[in-house]
Amino acid sequence: MVPTAQTGTACARRIRRAASTIAASRGSQRSGPALLEASSNTQAAAPQAALRVKRLEERLAAQHTAVICAFNQLLDLKDLGTGLHSTRLAEWAVRVAGHLAQQDEALEEEWRRDLEVAALLHDIGKIGVPDHILNKDGPLTPEERAIIQKHSEYGWTILRNFPGMERTSLFVLHHHENYDGTGYPARLAEEEIPLGARIVAVVDSFDAMVSNRPYRAGLPVQEAMRRVEAAAGTQFDPRVAQCFLAIVQSELAEVQAATAPLDMR
Ligand SMILES: [Fe+2]
Repeated sequence: MVPTAQTGTACARRIRRAASTIAASRGSQRSGPALLEASSNTQAAAPQAALRVKRLEERLAAQHTAVICAFNQLLDLKDLGTGLHSTRLAEWAVRVAGHLAQQDEALEEEWRRDLEVAALLHDIGKIGVPDHILNKDGPLTPEERAIIQKHSEYGWTILRNFPGMERTSLFVLHHHENYDGTGYPARLAEEEIPLGARIVAVVDSFDAMVSNRPYRAGLPVQEAMRRVEAAAGTQFDPRVAQCFLAIVQSELAEVQAATAPLDMR
């Protein structure tokens, strides 16, 4: 699932410029016969300006998508095992957002696209964590744990530089905050945590529970659901957790098939 791109600041500026050109052309039409010729020239130029804006928008959208894909490939090259994990996360996050959007008009399409990208790239900051810590078999020391926990800030640092990714970068920054204020990096609580980050937190944790790792087998889906429910109100936003669990419950067979080890399919 490759997210579609959104209009960036530069493009918005161009759209405003084109809009003022069209408005000027309309103003000229009202200025009297002496300006009829100039007005007609401007009118002829308006569709061309609109076409130019459309092409610029398409180009910006393609660049935006290419950046997201490049980051995703970078994660795969780093062997973070994120390919399937991230794609599944993005699908679930968008489903949860779709359900919540039925009760909250503020979750418009652009917001949901930002969430989808955040779910895909939530662990991009792990690129900045040394491999010997990321791939360590045994338990982590407190120092190593502190370094790994930096990944959400690293992710924010990377993504916030891209026009149009400001909101996505905040979802990434806060995807390890806990609803009760005990998470990281900012120890935000409840509504202080951006909703997109609260959604990523639930789907990320669930997927981590059911995924197989070299050093342990994934949990059965039912057990992972029980743990999400138990952590609703402490680690997770209860509204998001209940919404996600309802989705999983309604598609139990598909979720079990999607999360089963490859050799069992
Ligand atoms: Fe993470």
